[in-house]
Amino acid sequence: MKTVAGNWKMYKTIEQATEFFSQMSGMAAPRTDKVNVLIFPNYVAMGAVAVSGVVPDWIHLGAQDVAAEAEGAFTGEVSPQMIQSAGATHVLIGHSERRHIMGESADLLHRKLSNALQAGLIPVLCVGETLDERDAGRMQEVIFGQLDTGLAGVALQNGAQLTVAYEPVWAIGTGVNAANEQIEDAHRLIRDHLSQLLGNPVGSSIPILYGGSVKPANFAAIVGLPSVDGGLIGGASLKPDAFAELIAIAEQV
Ligand code: 13P
Repeated sequence: MKTVAGNWKMYKTIEQATEFFSQMSGMAAPRTDKVNVLIFPNYVAMGAVAVSGVVPDWIHLGAQDVAAEAEGAFTGEVSPQMIQSAGATHVLIGHSERRHIMGESADLLHRKLSNALQAGLIPVLCVGETLDERDAGRMQEVIFGQLDTGLAGVALQNGAQLTVAYEPVWAIGTGVNAANEQIEDAHRLIRDHLSQLLGNPVGSSIPILYGGSVKPANFAAIVGLPSVDGGLIGGASLKPDAFAELIAIAEQV
């Protein structure tokens, strides 16, 4: 089973999101035993499309962020329960834009992840090194550090409770995807580390997605790699045609 997940970032109004899902509803549903489809819209669009019922039942929804607390006086924050009230099942934690642009700390990300897990949301923990870190030979150290802090003290019953996304920062939105060997190398390290941190069979069954300049032209090669359980896609997930192509590619693996 491969996952095709679209991270819309700060794009799409309610109207534009509705148009996207209407177009997806018009296409034949993919084989859900082959491909798991997820979209991470902004909160506003997610709430609206959830209520209007325009989302086909084979597309699952996720939020791009979540509060570190369950409820309370936290202006601007959105709780796991609110996200679940829109029918969403997943939440991104530690996307590189939140780590590097918003400056979210390792401790905050750990609290967000724990809060999501406690509510029964599936965190998609994003990890990845910058180009400077890779060039300095620190890729493994950075990724392990992000996994260690994000998952500190976490115990899972099964691998379906968590997803990890490897998104090298230098590949995000640059048009330069990581080479297949680089992806395999990083995913193998992540897999070994998850098994160490969470034990097996949990660690060995957590899906690991690749993200960073995925598009229809390169996805078949990437999603076909043995260590890759799917893609987390930014730019190419915004257009229904390109997204439908990505789904069809994953379905054929
Ligand atoms: P792009 O696919 O636009 O490179 O974005 C990747 C990403 O950040 C997905 O979370």
